Amino acid sequence: MQRTFAIIKPDAVAQGNAGAILAEIEKNGFKIIAMKLMHLSRTQAEGFYAVHRERPFFNDLVTFMTEGPVVAMILQKEQAIKGWRDLMGATNPEQAAEGTLRKRFATNIERNAVHGSDAEETAAFETRYFFNAMEMVG
Ligand code: CMP
Repeated sequence: MQRTFAIIKPDAVAQGNAGAILAEIEKNGFKIIAMKLMHLSRTQAEGFYAVHRERPFFNDLVTFMTEGPVVAMILQKEQAIKGWRDLMGATNPEQAAEGTLRKRFATNIERNAVHGSDAEETAAFETRYFFNAMEMVG
């Protein structure tokens, strides 16, 4: 079993798509190990996306991620990292496959509805950044 870290981003929460995304998560066999609704501060979002600090889109990304509440989660399944990335679809919704969450719910490459860790090391960092041991079930 593997765990990954996931976020339902502010665009999806504001548009009322959190429930549909959670339904897909359950339908696809992920076990929700931890979950919370939170409104990130700029400092918190900058720390989360620190690896992107030098990118031209960094400031816009932080502004977007702090515009409203997000749902942060830890998801568990066999090959959870790849499985969640497959369910999300490509970062840019124009390139996302039919039936993926970003194809269904994303607006553009920035306002792309969901986040998922891209490797085991990032999953470990992101999980620890958002959750402590007492917030995890199972
Ligand atoms: P995410 O998976 O959360 O990881 C980094 C985020 O940066 C990504 O989703 C997008 O929301 C955003 N992003 C990546 N590339 C670009 C880009 N070229 N322009 C704007 N935003 C981007």
